[in-house]
Amino acid sequence: MSERPRLLVVEDDPGLQRQLKWAYEAYEVLLAADRPGALAALEAADPPVVTLDLGLPPDPDGVSEGLALLEEILARRPHAKVIVASGHGDRESARRAIALGAFDFYQKPIDIDELGFIVGRAFHVANLEAENRRLQARTPDTPLGAIVTGSPEMLKVCAMVERVAATNVSVLLLGASGTGKEVLARALHAASPRAAGPFVAINCAAIPENLLEAELFGYERGAFTGAVKTTEGKIELAKGGTLFLDEVGDIPLPLQVKLLRFIQERVIERVGGRRSIPVDVRIVCATHQNLKAMIADGRFREDLFYRIAEVTITIPPLKDRPGDALLLAHHFLQKHAGQRPGGPVRFGPSAVAAINLHSWPGNVRELENRVKRAIIMADGPAITAEDLDLADSPDLRPVPLKEARAQSDRRAILAALAASGGSVSQAARALGISRPTLYDLMRELGIDQPA
Ligand SMILES: Nc1ncnc2c1ncn2[C@@H]1O[C@H](COP(=O)(O)OP(=O)(O)OP(=O)(O)O)[C@@H](O)[C@H]1O
Ligand SMILES: [Mg+2]
Repeated sequence: MSERPRLLVVEDDPGLQRQLKWAYEAYEVLLAADRPGALAALEAADPPVVTLDLGLPPDPDGVSEGLALLEEILARRPHAKVIVASGHGDRESARRAIALGAFDFYQKPIDIDELGFIVGRAFHVANLEAENRRLQARTPDTPLGAIVTGSPEMLKVCAMVERVAATNVSVLLLGASGTGKEVLARALHAASPRAAGPFVAINCAAIPENLLEAELFGYERGAFTGAVKTTEGKIELAKGGTLFLDEVGDIPLPLQVKLLRFIQERVIERVGGRRSIPVDVRIVCATHQNLKAMIADGRFREDLFYRIAEVTITIPPLKDRPGDALLLAHHFLQKHAGQRPGGPVRFGPSAVAAINLHSWPGNVRELENRVKRAIIMADGPAITAEDLDLADSPDLRPVPLKEARAQSDRRAILAALAASGGSVSQAARALGISRPTLYDLMRELGIDQPA
């Protein structure tokens, strides 16, 4: 088989067949004139891109055979990019084909350049998707393999997690809701020498204040009404492993004192007990709160902060991880597709645009929920922006380019001024423009001169 990318052309007109074969020298063109021929070529050569004339025998003047073949191709090769050809002015059939999962369409008579452009783009998308699938298929052979990312910022976070995992230092994971604090804590444990020991997580925000102490430290029989038997707390249960204190900022002050004492002395006393029990655990904490501000307000103990945050790792929000939203969306599609057998198999163009443009305030958790929803809602094999409930997202409202540029200029200038501490000449240098130009822009965009 040749090295050129394989393109299957399904066309019943021998003249057009010849013309297309000749026009696509860059590809290894496979020809088929009907459904059986096309399916045979599909099985034999697995072409990533197919052009399909909807008017095929036995219905050369209609579209029924072409649409049926389209469905069959996508059922057998969900990732194939099928470009359909419809008769002149027959936009309705084109729409139906797209709804069934066709990649794109063009109208006859054929404009070789236009079709060539569409075919080129189809190969490009097919290659990108294949690469994505290859990356996701990568077996999680390393503990951090469970973390799906391609963004430099997040890869830095993973590298840092891997480095601290080998040590015994306490780690504080900071990140907004849904950024992956718990998955990273688990990955840290799995990459550490304690991997064979337990990983015990406790969400300090989810447990009522009066129960939290017993939950953490355990209790002796008879310590309080209902304490019918001696029970180990989460700290003890994590012995030899990792204790993950999620939402550590929600621990009430009196309990912060007890926790601090445990971290300093590495012994616990159960509620109602008098015995000091030594416990060896590694502590990983997480919070979405600003602990520094809480310290300033007297709501979090500074001495405890320094004990739990020997190393602090900040997880960037999803919107600051270029490319990750789509990568994760594919990951979750694969993970949850089984919930609806025969359900959608890929993201259509509107879904891809929506995923790339949405600002994801709920981060990875929101993304996973939307993909789960879309799998259930989708009508055809391709998920739409509407299935993700993102069709009306303000991020997706088209704005005139001029306005978009003004917005991004404004952002860049404000950032440069912030970084320069208000020095206009320094900001101009950082922006790569002259000082007068910057003054002009600031006037135009209504940015006040820094005092
Ligand atoms: N980079 C990632 N790769 C794969 N899955 C991820 C990634 N980040 C998060 N997830 C998944 O997204 C979901 C949310 O992640 P996680 O629970 O770790 O977030 P969190 O920061 O603890 O959120 P919350 O603040 O809401 O508790 C989980 O199902 C998790 O498995
Ligand atoms: Mg969490």
